[in-house]
Amino acid sequence: DKADIGVTGLAVMGRNLARNLARNGQRVAVHNRHRERTDDLVERFGGEGEFVPTGSLRELVESLERPRRVVIMVKAGPATDAVIDELVPMLDTGDVLVDAGNANFTDTRRREAALAERGVHFVGTGVSGGEEGALHGPSIMPGGSAEAYRELEPVLRSIAANVDGTPCVTHVGADGAGHFVKMVHNGIEYADMQLIAETYDLLRKVLGREPGEIAETFRRFNTGRLNSYLIEITAEVLGHVDARTSRPFVDVVLDQAEQKGTGRWTVQNALELASPVTGIAEAVFARSISGQPRLREAAADLPGPSEQPRIDDPEGFVADVERALYASKIVAYAQGFDQIQAGSATYGWNIDLGAVATIWRGGCIIRAEFLDRIRAAYDQNPGLASLLADEDFRAALTEAQDSWRRVVATATAAGVPVPGISTALAYYDTVRARRLPAALIQGQRDYFGAHTYRRTDAEGVFHTEWAADRSEHEA
Ligand code: 6PG
Repeated sequence: DKADIGVTGLAVMGRNLARNLARNGQRVAVHNRHRERTDDLVERFGGEGEFVPTGSLRELVESLERPRRVVIMVKAGPATDAVIDELVPMLDTGDVLVDAGNANFTDTRRREAALAERGVHFVGTGVSGGEEGALHGPSIMPGGSAEAYRELEPVLRSIAANVDGTPCVTHVGADGAGHFVKMVHNGIEYADMQLIAETYDLLRKVLGREPGEIAETFRRFNTGRLNSYLIEITAEVLGHVDARTSRPFVDVVLDQAEQKGTGRWTVQNALELASPVTGIAEAVFARSISGQPRLREAAADLPGPSEQPRIDDPEGFVADVERALYASKIVAYAQGFDQIQAGSATYGWNIDLGAVATIWRGGCIIRAEFLDRIRAAYDQNPGLASLLADEDFRAALTEAQDSWRRVVATATAAGVPVPGISTALAYYDTVRARRLPAALIQGQRDYFGAHTYRRTDAEGVFHTEWAADRSEHEA
């Protein structure tokens, strides 16, 4: 009997994806470069469904029903190319190759184009939700041709997370669209994590609360509009006590945040697209700064504020912080969705933003009730210029903004860095400003480089003779 689908790369994500497929009725051919992993999978989880262990990529391909469907779950980059290069000569027209790793979408575009020439469908897909998600239902973001998606849709729907009867999978768009959206998902994940971390830091340093107490606060936040997976696990991590020292776990962990690179890609791409994802950028840079002990050591003696701000109403401050977090979160997500919109326009993907919000409601790391609100915003107005313009978000920002300002002011006075929260507020104040000092920048540019400017009251492009009589003429 032939297998329905193949999986190569059986590290924890690949293994769990293979198990998820088998548990949902697929006969799954499995392969790993080192055979032990394949045998281990079948030995430990063989009872969960039908697995066909194979010892080589050729054997894997030969074990499959046509059109063949092969899921690659190896390290992004050269390892993925190596597997593709080995597989492609064995495949036929109409076969579907799925890259479920965290590939850079530009690689996915290149691979898709190369394989399309050979008649092989290449589907770069984002898969979010970590190990647990891969096993019990991830959020799945496939790119590639509509034809390839039709081949995969039933099986992807069967293994994806499910919210209110809707599977968390949609055809995002052609070629690299799926991996692009996964990349921005990770960027938003970075921003959200940074905002939560700043909130914790404020409660700790301004109110002097202990991690255990702050865990309770997050548990409470989690019963409200901030309800999300990231808030939930934050409470778990903060409540955890280190077994070795009996100290709060968060106090014994080295405070240097690492990154595998997807957040950085998001910001690099945002620069290309001129898409101002300031929240994501601050989050990436905050991780970078944390990971520079030499810099931090050199600066450790610099003075902080000579006086600490007085907080007369601690519970009022906690409420302010909740509002600041929520408002900042709206901005960070608005920026991320804007980047998707910009990418979609630039790369010709026609991405449905509401559909993206829908598949992020479950399975993925940023899953939250909040995504339902974003979906509703795009449902109401698919052409929304920014989430900030949505009526409900507008109302939330209106209600939050005074608190938000107090939090940034207090943090500044206390010397507690809140790059994520303050950049979100700066963005808010920037986009709502009727006039920006950009006019002055245009004047400066024209002054030193004759770079020209446009006027508010006339068509055309102008230059002022700064060094001469300061007369103006059309450029
Ligand atoms: C997910 C995650 C996942 C990613 C981690 C690690 O959606 O399941 O985004 O894909 O591996 O978040 O990212 P960093 O190591 O860069 O923090």
